[in-house]
Amino acid sequence: MTAQGPVVVILAAGEGKRMHSGTPKVLHAIAGRSLLGHVIEAAAAIDPAHLVVVVGHGRDQVLAHLDEVAPWVDTVVQEEQRGTGHAVRVALTALASAQELGSAPVIVLSGDTPLLRGETVRALMSAHLAAGAAATLLTAELTDATGYGRVVRGIGGDVEAIVEHRDADSTTMGIREINAGMYAFDPGQLIAALARLSTANDQGEEYLTDVITILSGDGFPIVGLTVDDPGEVAGVNDRVQLADAARAMRDRINGGWMRAGVSILDPSTTWIDVDVDLAPDVVLSPHTFLLGPTSVATGARIGPGTTLMACEVGESAVVIHTWAELAVIESRASIGPFTYLRPGTLVGVQAKAGAFVEMKNATLGAGAKVPHLSYVGDAEIGEGTNIGAATIFVNYDGQDKHRCVVGRHVRIGSDTMLVAPVTIGDGAYTAAGSVITEDVPAGAMAVGRARQRVIPGWVQRKRPGSASALAADECLGTSTSSEETQ
Ligand code: UD1
Ligand code: CA
Repeated sequence: MTAQGPVVVILAAGEGKRMHSGTPKVLHAIAGRSLLGHVIEAAAAIDPAHLVVVVGHGRDQVLAHLDEVAPWVDTVVQEEQRGTGHAVRVALTALASAQELGSAPVIVLSGDTPLLRGETVRALMSAHLAAGAAATLLTAELTDATGYGRVVRGIGGDVEAIVEHRDADSTTMGIREINAGMYAFDPGQLIAALARLSTANDQGEEYLTDVITILSGDGFPIVGLTVDDPGEVAGVNDRVQLADAARAMRDRINGGWMRAGVSILDPSTTWIDVDVDLAPDVVLSPHTFLLGPTSVATGARIGPGTTLMACEVGESAVVIHTWAELAVIESRASIGPFTYLRPGTLVGVQAKAGAFVEMKNATLGAGAKVPHLSYVGDAEIGEGTNIGAATIFVNYDGQDKHRCVVGRHVRIGSDTMLVAPVTIGDGAYTAAGSVITEDVPAGAMAVGRARQRVIPGWVQRKRPGSASALAADECLGTSTSSEETQ
């Protein structure tokens, strides 16, 4: 932020009734960022000296959110929502009394237009400064302008007035150029005009749009800058528009990554949050969700059917049908299919967490493998170790969690229970089906199961005539069963 830069005011005090939500509208998120967060991000492109968010409805939630995601912004409370003009007036009064209002333009944006781009905010400001206008507004040509303020232009093309949909007559209603609700103002002109707003309209509110009409009436030049893509200025008022915006954002993000060298096999089912970082030659298969600050290194293949939340994936790793959160997957590791990696998992270089494996708070050393049907919780597994199918790290005694340490090049037999806390030394083996409750020294074989007992002829005696008994007889060349049935 610079001292001489523009001031940005973002209006976010409205309730957003049509969302039918306990969450204020501007806090609904698309691509891992709130609607308001997207607008702040776009506004940051002009390096504002001050950015003020006007809050009202749900202010506690909005303020807490801003504290977390954009602590550098200022906030002003509009106690009652008496209109967009009133909201700007409240913001400017606060800025003026703090002597933070200079001669640089005031940019007004709305908190519910997440698709607005930084470059468009920059274009708005440059057009405004280049024209030396009193006000400049973004407009869009819509096929259906229902609900929007209509832009009335004079013979020279200058904007003369904005008429709200509900205040428009049938001729004005026919105008397809709409007010996007994003403006640049000369601060002095804006303050003077705001003082003259009336509430003589259908909603009894102070309309910011009347500032345009007032300034134009006084003969000041007003510029209307039409955006190429009307979608960019679309507001979100209900859940249908929220989904529309999410889809548009998805397409924009996916397009950016594909142009940067990422293969996305099915862009319509691939969702990538704004904070994700991908390297060229990453391949994303259908139904893949990359969320939060996830990063994927070159050559890695993710999906199909995979969700990675705040994960780090190394070069050429393969992750198939997996749900992972706060996990690190190192280079050439192989995950899945049907694998659940919970927070604190680290799968080392060329290691494997295979089918139906769940891991939590556990480290798998380089080249180590947990190929099938296992739970690995609170554990450290050394390099080159193999964990047999259906092994369980028994980490919970009903009250506390305990850790297991398994050394390098260990062979854990299938269906082993490792009852934590327990340590398995380097190179040790455990026998299949063992319940291991005591430490196993390096190089030892641990057997922790009942010795097998064999009772010959039991089936023929106890289940005479059964298919099993007949099969046994046939195999052994005996006829115990047939004797019984005679
Ligand atoms: C507004 C414009 C309309 C334009 C449309 C674009 C006015 C009078 N009309 O209409 O010309 O086509 O945006 O989307 O400005 N807000 C406050 N405090 C208030 C009232 C509103 O902070 O007292 C905020 C809202 O939360 C919202 C923004 O201002 O973020 C716009 O208000 P909204 O009521 O949605 O205006 P529209 O009727 O959409
Ligand atoms: Ca609106």
